[in-house]
Amino acid sequence: MLQEQITQYSAEINAFDTSNAEELEQFRIRFLGTKGIIKDIFDQFKAVSPEEKRVLGKVLNEFKQVAEAKYSSINEVLSISAQHTEDLGLDLTLPGEGFEVGARHPLALVRREIIDIFNKLGFSVAEGPEIEDDWHNFSALNFPEEHPARDMQDTFFLKKGGENGDIALRTHTSSVQVRMMEGGKPPFRALMPGRVYRNEAISARAHCFFHQVEGLYVDENVSFADLKQTLFYFVQELYGEGTKVRFRPSYFPFTEPSAEMDISCTICKGEGCQMCKYSGWVEILGCGMVDPNVLENCGIDSKKYSGFAFGMGIERIANLKFEIKDLRLFSENDVRFLKQYKTVLI
Ligand code: DAH
Repeated sequence: MLQEQITQYSAEINAFDTSNAEELEQFRIRFLGTKGIIKDIFDQFKAVSPEEKRVLGKVLNEFKQVAEAKYSSINEVLSISAQHTEDLGLDLTLPGEGFEVGARHPLALVRREIIDIFNKLGFSVAEGPEIEDDWHNFSALNFPEEHPARDMQDTFFLKKGGENGDIALRTHTSSVQVRMMEGGKPPFRALMPGRVYRNEAISARAHCFFHQVEGLYVDENVSFADLKQTLFYFVQELYGEGTKVRFRPSYFPFTEPSAEMDISCTICKGEGCQMCKYSGWVEILGCGMVDPNVLENCGIDSKKYSGFAFGMGIERIANLKFEIKDLRLFSENDVRFLKQYKTVLI
């Protein structure tokens, strides 16, 4: 009887393990306490026959040692780790520290979104240098020498003269169109994002640098209808279905005909607000059919090929998405501003 109980309890003791001080204390009370199992077995032991005592005595002592050893080994581990956390000044009951996720810059988010939309239409992405010569920034784009159109954009000149004319910071990403067409054969279907520079006093509404995305599509039989449908699709994707578009005739030296595109105000949905100056419409880009002179300047047969182009300011698009009214916020890199965009898009 006693032997059976000892065997059973031994198995229980051997299997016991815990990392919880409370459970260990329960174990101690159950087996080693003054009213515990071991005390009880020792009491029963007093009543067994002398022959049995000889055999059982040893077993019983071993049983007691095993229980005590189990208790003290676990107790040691637990008190070491308790001491350790105390030494480190740790309070394990405190909540963990949050993991800070980095934020993307709102302009990077918007550029990504624009690229993603045009990727679906088969547009690739190309880049060009920010330091440009006169040919790529102006002349090849059909800005005649001494023509007032050059004054449309206040240029930062770096060097007068040079193989391809004055060296300047590019005033628009249209220069990348030229590099792309000079460097390859039609068809071209690409988006060209980048930073551009203009000599303007910095204020909430103007900056000496900003960002544009240029688009170019050149192939046989490209028409103004293709331009309209492409940009219409873009706007529906970017600002949601039902956003209206309208084209107003305009002038750019490198497109003929040229237009500016307005969309129904994304803030007031056309009702009239400060953003759209109570007109219900906001301008978001310039566009047009690539002027045959530009195609020829880049070595492309304008009898065979036609194309459309467009250019937009990324800050403007971001402003309409996030209502960021002061342009300076984009380049000050104030983390309180930047971290607001962490969860907006991926
Ligand atoms: N380059 C023009 C600007 O900076 C924008 C632009 C207008 C680009 C019409 C184009 C275009 O490609 O077709 O104001």
